[in-house]
Amino acid sequence: MTLSHRFGRACHVLVLVLCLSAAEDFDWSANNHDSFYYGTFPNGFSWGAGSSAYQTEGAWDKDGKGLSIWDVFTHKKGKTFLNDTGDSSCEGYYKIKDDILLMKELNLNHYRFSISWPRIMPTGIRSDHVNEKGLKYYNVLIDELLENNITPIVTLYHWDLPQVLQEKYGGWQNISMINYFNDFANLCFERYGDRVKYWITFNNPWSVAVEGYETGEHAPGLKLRGTGAYRAAHHIIKAHAKVWHTYDSQWRSKQKGMVGISLSGDWGEPVDITNQKDIEAAERYVQFYIGWFATPIFHGDYPQVMKDFIGRKSAQQGLGTSRLPTFSSQEKSYIKGTCDFLGVGHFTTRYITQKSFPSNRGTTYFSDRDIAELVDPRWPDPGSEWLYSVPWGFRRLLNFIKTQYGNPMMFITENGVSEKMMCTELCDNWRIQYYKDYINEMLKAIRDGVNVKGYTAWSLLDKFEWDEGYSERFGLYYVDFKNKNKPRYPKASVQFYKRIIKTNGFPNQREVENWKRKATETCSTSNQLLAADPLTSHMEMVTEVVVPTVCTLCILISAVFLMFLLRKHN
Ligand code: NOJ
Repeated sequence: MTLSHRFGRACHVLVLVLCLSAAEDFDWSANNHDSFYYGTFPNGFSWGAGSSAYQTEGAWDKDGKGLSIWDVFTHKKGKTFLNDTGDSSCEGYYKIKDDILLMKELNLNHYRFSISWPRIMPTGIRSDHVNEKGLKYYNVLIDELLENNITPIVTLYHWDLPQVLQEKYGGWQNISMINYFNDFANLCFERYGDRVKYWITFNNPWSVAVEGYETGEHAPGLKLRGTGAYRAAHHIIKAHAKVWHTYDSQWRSKQKGMVGISLSGDWGEPVDITNQKDIEAAERYVQFYIGWFATPIFHGDYPQVMKDFIGRKSAQQGLGTSRLPTFSSQEKSYIKGTCDFLGVGHFTTRYITQKSFPSNRGTTYFSDRDIAELVDPRWPDPGSEWLYSVPWGFRRLLNFIKTQYGNPMMFITENGVSEKMMCTELCDNWRIQYYKDYINEMLKAIRDGVNVKGYTAWSLLDKFEWDEGYSERFGLYYVDFKNKNKPRYPKASVQFYKRIIKTNGFPNQREVENWKRKATETCSTSNQLLAADPLTSHMEMVTEVVVPTVCTLCILISAVFLMFLLRKHN
């Protein structure tokens, strides 16, 4: 959870009903939050679900895999909820076939996963060693997906940097990462590019930069406030551009694939839409979020507002240059246009108002923005503390991307909701509601002319949720982490999402209501299966632990008894 999200939570009570009614009046003519739109998606729209290597694979030290910064971070005490680690997680490494069956059950068109860099290059450096066993795992996964008519969408970097690169060079603080990452990407194009046609260089670089190098909530856990995130982002943007150029010049003509980046962004809505300061503050919020990465990639340089604010504050702090690094003019033209499609990860929205942070009181990415975040206490908040369900914000963000970046081809790479329940609840009505409303807002955005080609539900399985450990479950499928076989059970949302996919949208009210009803009916059956699970694991324990122990004891006792008899006899 980010600081900004925590801050938003703290401001919960501050939201004024007055401001909200102003927001209700917001004139986005076709954008009526309350009306549900029945209709279908364009033909060929791609439906998928996603995962990432560290969050699901497990097998953290198997078959020659090197350490990643997340292996090291989670093995330190106090970094994650209950000191949870991704050591075994969903054991996805061993369950390719099982998981593809789940995807088939959903009727998915695509599956988004990421490649663990240290699994295929243990130190992160190609000339050191390439791990064939690791390479084989992804080969099998890709082949199995294709055999089942599921298109792989592959992310190269979903946060698990090889630890050696962190220790030797300081990770993304160091410019040398650009070449190392390019070598890694090149190996992936070489080995998998004959079959993989959609590549995502980075997943959510905002999190890598801010949570990895500014707040330290994520690996590598550095707190380089006011500078670390900007420097990391600078190198990531350049690394992305380099990899895009590598593909473009060396592989595109043979492989005919596409290279994009996946950016995450909350939507920021002005608290008072009649107040110019609030309007500007909300725009700033979005520019400091998705714009930080999208503007260089589509227009060649950082958003003007970031350059102005960070530059002014740096000068007030007596610094000779801005804490926001600059691109040379060659770099600008090299970076501009390096995106064949844009991946969008979106979960939630905030109300934004102007709030000044004097520059003499410490510098952080957050205070550089001069804003405050608020939430409406009526917004549903079923799981993660930061995740409020605000479907209309999704449509606005998509329209913002359309107008700001020339309506690029987009794939929704992450969208979904968690539950914060340690107990088991497969009847996830709130998730059905979330998907229904968010997918519907995406449909409205497509009708507005936004160029969205596919949607990826986040996530296929419950999995390791970074600093929150296993306490937040985003999966369509429930994973029983206490059972060493990590069995998967469908939640009700599986039935619902499956029907959206099958009909490619929402046919009419009666049918959609029917889907909901049926989904909740079937989930009670799955609940029963799950309830029987402790019994199964108990039986396994009996066969695997108790029986062998008792047998060994019997043999020992008989041996001692035999010795005793023999002695007596002699
Ligand atoms: C974005 C991250 O990319 C993903 O790994 C994470 O599970 C979701 N946010 C939810 O927090």
